Amino acid sequence: MLRRLHHEQPAAFEFTPANLAWAEAQITKYPVGRQASAIIPLLFRAQEQEGWLSKPAIEYVADMLGMPYIRALEVATFYFMFQLAPVGSVAHIQVCGTTSCMICGAEDLIRVCKEKIAPHAFELSNDGKFSWEEVECLGACANAPMAAIGKDYYEDLSEESLAKLIDAMAAGQTPRPGSQTGRFSSERAGEQVALLDSKGEREEFNATVGLAVSIGDTIKRIDGTEVALRAPWQMSGQRAPIGMMGTERPKSAVQQVAAEKAAKAATE
Ligand code: FES
Repeated sequence: MLRRLHHEQPAAFEFTPANLAWAEAQITKYPVGRQASAIIPLLFRAQEQEGWLSKPAIEYVADMLGMPYIRALEVATFYFMFQLAPVGSVAHIQVCGTTSCMICGAEDLIRVCKEKIAPHAFELSNDGKFSWEEVECLGACANAPMAAIGKDYYEDLSEESLAKLIDAMAAGQTPRPGSQTGRFSSERAGEQVALLDSKGEREEFNATVGLAVSIGDTIKRIDGTEVALRAPWQMSGQRAPIGMMGTERPKSAVQQVAAEKAAKAATE
């Protein structure tokens, strides 16, 4: 599927101070000269901040990482996780339309999206809260049909359960992700017939669903307030002065090299 930048772009992009500190700490995970490896988390953070990924945001991240714009654009336009146009303020629903999901009812799910959200993919609903698109296989084929919404997968969907999910999200609720028919993970539907010896007791939810339930919100965008900035690798290495080790902000690999060069030049 051809993915292009949106025809309307904002004039500029800048990380918030909290997101900038987080991004600069992420860059220090990678060796000097390899800071481009941080491209995906930084683009995703920019998207979480704005709701979608604009051209200025892509170029801002490329500048932070010392990358040509075209390399950053290649990444942003390749992955479905990056939204290149404004999406619903509450949720963007990505319905898998590949083989298993198609056989198990993806077309019915798309019909629900057309009826409840908007007739065409990437169109906003009238209240601006929702949008949808069809995507390729998301790797949850055993739990088809499914959709990715926010940070979670909603699996074993039906027309009714997807409609209920959309209504619940519109009402400000946080429905439980995972199988909507009660499967624990991707075991066969119905009674367990294999590996009976290992049946034993188990948690109420699998790890992914359990985490989503404990957080209590799977569609809220990351805004830098979720957890304190942690960059424990900076405690042992000694390229990065900063973060938890002092009052300065973390420096990216590029900034660290520039600072070292400046310090060396000052002593010559
Ligand atoms: S075919 Fe839908 S998740 Fe793989």
